[in-house]
Amino acid sequence: MRKNILSVTAALLVGFLSISVARAEVSYKNEVFPILHDYCLNCHQPGGQGFEKSGLDMRTYQSLMKGTKFGSVIKPGDSFTSILIQVVEGRVHASIKMPYGMSGGLAKDKIDTLKKWVKQGAPNN
Ligand code: HEC
Repeated sequence: MRKNILSVTAALLVGFLSISVARAEVSYKNEVFPILHDYCLNCHQPGGQGFEKSGLDMRTYQSLMKGTKFGSVIKPGDSFTSILIQVVEGRVHASIKMPYGMSGGLAKDKIDTLKKWVKQGAPNN
């Protein structure tokens, strides 16, 4: 009996722990894509000025990871050198701060979401 209670308690603990770990993960589908959709996609799909100039298409995870005509803009695990993070933070040059032409730029909490996702390896989750 005692043993049963212990194992139930242990199972519950493991359950809670995995839920909180899962919560800490940023989801591409539920958190990252909605930001790209609302702030970037207009320009970054065929016909949009961002796509026409850079080749960066954000319609899908695969096209996002493919990057621009010069190469990838996301380096999984490394938000500091990822071009996508550099341009939303305005670290490349003021003239290519993204979203292009948006005064004030992307809100900090949204930038943080993108950074967290890149840091955790930019998964298709
Ligand atoms: C109003 C249009 C527009 C919006 C909105 C926009 N972009 Fe862009 N984007 C551009 C243009 C134009 C370029 C090409 C800039 C250049 O090369 O001078 C570009 C280029 C880029 C590049 C490539 C930079 C490089 O060094 O090659 C990245 C990465 C990028 N955008 C990310 C984003 C992200 C992330 C968002 C949303 C948060 C976004 N863009 C929103 C127009 C836009």
